[in-house]
Amino acid sequence: MGESPSTQPPGGGELAGQVAVVTGAAQGIGRAIAEHLVSAGASVAVVDVHGAGPAASEIEQLGGRVLAVEADVTSESATAAMAESVHHAFGRLDILVNNAGLFTTLDPGPFESIPVQRWRRVMDVNVMGPFLCARACVRFMRLQGGGRIINIASSTPFKGTPYTLDYVTSKGAVVALTRALAKELGPQSILVNAVAPGLTLSDGLLERSGVFDQKIAASASGRALERPQHPADIVGAVRFLSGPGAAFITGQTLVVDGGSFLH
Ligand SMILES: NC(=O)c1ccc[n+]([C@@H]2O[C@H](COP(=O)([O-])OP(=O)(O)OC[C@H]3O[C@@H](n4cnc5c(N)ncnc54)[C@H](O)[C@@H]3O)[C@@H](O)[C@H]2O)c1
Repeated sequence: MGESPSTQPPGGGELAGQVAVVTGAAQGIGRAIAEHLVSAGASVAVVDVHGAGPAASEIEQLGGRVLAVEADVTSESATAAMAESVHHAFGRLDILVNNAGLFTTLDPGPFESIPVQRWRRVMDVNVMGPFLCARACVRFMRLQGGGRIINIASSTPFKGTPYTLDYVTSKGAVVALTRALAKELGPQSILVNAVAPGLTLSDGLLERSGVFDQKIAASASGRALERPQHPADIVGAVRFLSGPGAAFITGQTLVVDGGSFLH
């Protein structure tokens, strides 16, 4: 039996006084990240296209300051308004976690069967979303002399995972965006890193377990740590990259997949 992910709050309030935006935080990995950052002392904006309000109310029970923002990350005006409202509510904006993404709703299949419209939508949400959110939030990070951007990528571009070519390509782009943006924003003390999870039993994935059953079994047995991956396995990496211990780390992608892809 492998070791289970820790559900203990990180304690120490290492992010006390910091303000974090987590996109796609109504459920799944984003929700777990938002909860963990609140437990670490941050005030958190729960941003989602659906269900931000109810999720924020529940996360607030953990004791932190939480703001719900209903916004589609593909909308230039909505992302700009989102960052404004976070800054207005909390007076600063330190951390952006670009987590919103399309994956669990995508049916795997041969690349020729991917409709052009789906390809465009996946690129819009998974690549343009982080671009627009970064653009909206960086403005406020600059005002206070620095910040952190953490992009949720995926281990799939490193493994060349077949049968979701649009998704894998989009996450490869997220890694490239992370590197180039880190170089561009480094002089302004804005650090940009990515976390690349393996296949994770998020809410979205569990809702479609029939589609993903075989992949879930195969991915667990392909790991050095042979068990399924949970959202709680990812949150520590995001907290680390948000915190003081990562002050000289930028442009990197940390693969968190229980030792499946090694680099
Ligand atoms: N689950 C996995 O196996 C896995 C593995 C690696 C990476 N990831 C990545 O982690 C992230 C979260 O995945 P998850 O499994 O928790 O997904 P999920 O489907 O459970 O949740 C995704 C959340 O993003 C929100 N969202 C979708 N489109 C949005 C938009 N346009 N604007 C704002 N919010 C939007 C949804 O409403 C939902 O709350 C994604 O970027 C995904 O690609 C997931």
